[in-house]
Amino acid sequence: MFDTDVYVQRRRRLRTAINAGLVLFLGNEAVPMNYASNLYPFWQDSSFLYYWGLDTPGLAAVIDLDEDREILFGHDPTVDEIVWTGPLPSLHARAARVGVTETGSREALGEVVRSAVDAGRSVHILPPYRTRHTLQLAEWLDVAQDEVAMQASEAFIEAVIAQRAIKSEDEVAEIETALDAAHAMHTAAMRRATPGVTEQAVAGQMEGIATSRGGRLSFPLIVSVRGEVLHNHPTEHVLQEGELMLCDAGATAPSQYASDITRVTPVGGRFTERQRAIYDLVLTTQQNAIDAVRPGVPFRDIHLQAARDLTDGLQALGLMRGDVDEAVAAGAHALFFPHGLGHMMGLDVHDMEGLGEDRVGYGDAFERSDQFGLSALRLARTLEPGFVLTVEPGLYFIPALIDQWRADGKHTAFINYDRVEAYKDFGGIRIEDDVLVTREGARVLGPSIPKDADAVEAMAAEAAEGSTP
Ligand code: GLY
Repeated sequence: MFDTDVYVQRRRRLRTAINAGLVLFLGNEAVPMNYASNLYPFWQDSSFLYYWGLDTPGLAAVIDLDEDREILFGHDPTVDEIVWTGPLPSLHARAARVGVTETGSREALGEVVRSAVDAGRSVHILPPYRTRHTLQLAEWLDVAQDEVAMQASEAFIEAVIAQRAIKSEDEVAEIETALDAAHAMHTAAMRRATPGVTEQAVAGQMEGIATSRGGRLSFPLIVSVRGEVLHNHPTEHVLQEGELMLCDAGATAPSQYASDITRVTPVGGRFTERQRAIYDLVLTTQQNAIDAVRPGVPFRDIHLQAARDLTDGLQALGLMRGDVDEAVAAGAHALFFPHGLGHMMGLDVHDMEGLGEDRVGYGDAFERSDQFGLSALRLARTLEPGFVLTVEPGLYFIPALIDQWRADGKHTAFINYDRVEAYKDFGGIRIEDDVLVTREGARVLGPSIPKDADAVEAMAAEAAEGSTP
């Protein structure tokens, strides 16, 4: 948690961006897994956390712009709760920690919102993504449940995005704490990538590292030898010599700031010639993309540059043909690179996506393409100093997609399907780092995690020599 003044200043700035009305923040609740007292690990709403700093369930807050008041709503811990949880600070003490003097009960919050609605005042809400909040808002705002999202406040959303998109030095430091954990997780995974170990054993070790540092996984682990399945989760599969193990994993810092890293390790310690050619192509593409990151450049341009680099390399391998620019303009490369180059990062691993992916990643100046591949680009907008984003090109050989495109005769001028057939057992490779846009250019955040093919092989070879399944 940051100093009190950080939260005071963040709210002060937000207040200047919204003219009038009641600005409502709903913190998250504890959610049961399978019965009422068996709860999912609590995850605070990231905008609530950003402005109010408090990481406990059952809180809400308002900024009343017309009456110049800030109020935190919740309840004091009951003795019954303290029996199970141990001593907890009072609501007033938690409010004071973030520079707020007024507190109220959840019931009082309902009255505050309803009386604002009755008085015809603006009630500014963010789009809800939890059903409980939708139901609550429908009742307070007196609208149908399926109309709640339409009540979300443009001014509020835009102000939050503008503020949260630019990371302070303190926030970057938190992301780097999350990257320290990611470094430990990924180097452990590389050292564990040995024949006879299961994907789940590798994943368990990675999760243990995230937890042992006071954070947790920033999203469910992707650990798989079927790297072409973009979000494949670890299975009981036993790693075999010659397979490629793709790990896409990050941790949160205790403050909830996230990291998101992808590495690919050859099981047994050596890339084959064919694997290495694809690996080096993805790595060169990633490095070129990172080199292109700087203020004033639309990230969509860097995505398209990466698509051209990949296409160029695939042509050299005989898998594509024709004019590179035309192939990319037509979307032919998306057979092998069907996702976007990256996304914003911060308190959420896909930062602020709950506020609307297009609002965060496109704004008013860009429009999302409906072309397969480019349509999956989450971030298109012009880069600014303080943005933190992932740069994560990949190449995948997805048998079902190859078969479908071939049967449909898609992009036959650009794709050499006969050669592609021989890669249908290849899997996939993605390489991902987290990058800060600086005034001058870009800085890859966190400790360096091996990604040069020789360095990855050296770590995987340690696994082959030293570890037992
Ligand atoms: N690294 C997983 C994702 O960005 O969805």
